[in-house]
Amino acid sequence: MHIPKALGLALYLPLSEALRSSGNGALDKLQISQMAAKKVAIIGAGAGGSSAAYYLRKNADEAGIKTNITVFESSSHVGGRSTTVNAWSDPNTPIELGASIFVEVNHILVSAARDFNLSTSSHSRPHVSGQPELGIWNGEEFILTTGAENGWWDKAKLLWRYGWAPIKTNSLMKDTVGKFLKMYEEPIFPFKSLSDTAEELGLTEITASTGEQFLKEKGVGELFAREVVQASTRVNYASNLGLIHGLETMVCMATSGAMSIANGNWQIFSHMLKSSSSTLHLNATVKKISKQPNSTYLLTTSSFSASDSPQTFDTVILAAPLQFSNLVIDPAPKHVPDQIPYVKLHVTLFASPHKLSPLAFNLAPEKSVPQYVLTTLPPGENYGSDPNGVGTPGFFSISIVGEGLNPHTSPTNRPEYIYKIFSPKRIDEGFLSRVLGVDVPEGESTDGAVSWIYRKVWHSYPYEYPRVTFDEIKLDDGLFYTSGIESFISTMETSALMGKNVARLVVDEWKAGQKAGSEEASESLKVQKEGEWEYKGVNGEEQKPLKAKL
Ligand SMILES: Cc1cc2nc3c(=O)[nH]c(=O)nc-3n(C[C@H](O)[C@H](O)[C@H](O)COP(=O)(O)OP(=O)(O)OC[C@H]3O[C@@H](n4cnc5c(N)ncnc54)[C@H](O)[C@@H]3O)c2cc1C
Ligand SMILES: *[C@@H]1O[C@H](CO)[C@@H](O)[C@H](O)[C@H]1NC(C)=O
Ligand SMILES: *[C@@H]1O[C@H](CO)[C@@H](O)[C@H](O)[C@H]1NC(C)=O
Ligand SMILES: *[C@@H]1O[C@H](CO)[C@@H](O)[C@H](O)[C@H]1NC(C)=O
Ligand SMILES: *[C@@H]1O[C@H](CO)[C@@H](O)[C@H](O)[C@H]1NC(C)=O
Repeated sequence: MHIPKALGLALYLPLSEALRSSGNGALDKLQISQMAAKKVAIIGAGAGGSSAAYYLRKNADEAGIKTNITVFESSSHVGGRSTTVNAWSDPNTPIELGASIFVEVNHILVSAARDFNLSTSSHSRPHVSGQPELGIWNGEEFILTTGAENGWWDKAKLLWRYGWAPIKTNSLMKDTVGKFLKMYEEPIFPFKSLSDTAEELGLTEITASTGEQFLKEKGVGELFAREVVQASTRVNYASNLGLIHGLETMVCMATSGAMSIANGNWQIFSHMLKSSSSTLHLNATVKKISKQPNSTYLLTTSSFSASDSPQTFDTVILAAPLQFSNLVIDPAPKHVPDQIPYVKLHVTLFASPHKLSPLAFNLAPEKSVPQYVLTTLPPGENYGSDPNGVGTPGFFSISIVGEGLNPHTSPTNRPEYIYKIFSPKRIDEGFLSRVLGVDVPEGESTDGAVSWIYRKVWHSYPYEYPRVTFDEIKLDDGLFYTSGIESFISTMETSALMGKNVARLVVDEWKAGQKAGSEEASESLKVQKEGEWEYKGVNGEEQKPLKAKL
């Protein structure tokens, strides 16, 4: 039976009154089902997951949609690869173990720091008097050192050695950053496909080639690429220029306004989570995500509080690389993320009263070693595309990241330097003895040449091989993935951007669903069967026919 639309609408109001007064009426149920909080699970409390929670809450509140967010984190801390450890186990000297800096174009992090009133420090490498600030070491000699006064770009020196290459590189970098920043704005944001977005913004051309090819095509001199740009890709991504793609290479050169959060960047993510009023479960590893017949997801977790029973969620956001997340998605989603080769990076932090030995760096005894030692390959050594291409230097970087008083020495606390080394292999006592120029015995001694040491092996970031497609964001209905962005750019900011993007996609879908739901609800009033009204729920699930007496 066809009821003209006008009539249908005319029926609607008095009908709703009738239903309302009938006590357990249909509209009450309808409203309740529309009002029931959307249940969202976020897996991972790193930059991606925390940002997803933060923006999901914001977007849902703005849309007036009730949302219940639960965050599962397998480790005992928030921040993921953004985390600190305490030198000498002293809580007054936290040192970044993972992501240490972000830059002024990182809008999400910069505005979060401001909104949460966190103090940033310009990426403060403490200046050790009399030491040149930064040097690039090729395993044989320092090919470049810059003084602290002149900062990163010691312009005259660079021009002399490299001609226009630094300036060309800088303008290429700015051009690339300009394209990337479009991802934050409409009409690009929110984006459903990273592959399509990269293509649309002209970034695929840059991810398609290696940094080496890209710079060459753009007429950047080979010497500058090999010496300076490669030193930067090695310290940031443990990769030579012949391996890492052009976009991530440009990210390495975008160092303007480098900063960090005092006492740890993880605080941004901790504040995001608090502000999202999510329920946070630490020490809780999600083991299995299983899709239910009613399209919800059942999550099985293992946690130290064994009382946790599996729960179902309307939406799941996986904010960790699937391949390291130790979980099963059953049945397999429509899109399964690729296996991505990740760098296995050894990070070694240690404290010592000694400076780096000039002898270890082929310098005269009276010279001092820069406090920030980057590395590149010596001339003629070609490990460009070899993932194990650390080459002659044997490490990617050594830097002094802090200075402090060793609390374990008496009668006075000894002033010491805190060092950080990035390398592809374990740093042993032999290596430390050589670079410090003193005997470093095995085993710990709080007043020895090395008073404190901390080693961590990370799956730090992908190798960033050139590629033109990236993992899907929506793996299946109600199942989203943030970590595909890591093969495009792997930073705290880009993970946070993907978290923000997914949060928006999710709430946009809810809004579309609500609209469709309410249209369907009024449509459904046309279907009359012996005084029974059928209603198809907002989530598309069939509900029991609602009885109404007219
Ligand atoms: C040594 C190092 C230096 C770096 N330097 C910088 C830098 O200077 N600047 C910069 O911007 N970036 C840097 N990065 C990269 C940056 O850390 C990452 O790109 C970014 O932090 C990734 O955030 P994420 O949230 O996507 O992933 P993660 O931080 O890895 O977060 C994922 C979280 O999910 C959790 N998890 C995984 N599986 C499960 C499960 N089954 N159940 C529950 N929880 C689970 C993990 O424990 C983890 O906490 C560096 C990384 C490293 C390692
Ligand atoms: C959110 O869900 C959890 C777990 O199901 C529940 O314990 C909690 O009470 C819910 N919170 C709200 C505000 O609905
Ligand atoms: C997580 O586990 C660690 C030990 O591995 C423990 O020290 C910490 O208190 C636990 N945290 C929570 C919130 O359960
Ligand atoms: C922000 O932090 C500073 C100190 O870091 C404090 O003096 C100030 O009151 C804080 N402001 C707000 C709004 O929390
Ligand atoms: C979906 O099914 C699961 C059991 O498989 C149940 O626990 C959950 O309550 C159902 N959710 C909805 C919204 O019907």
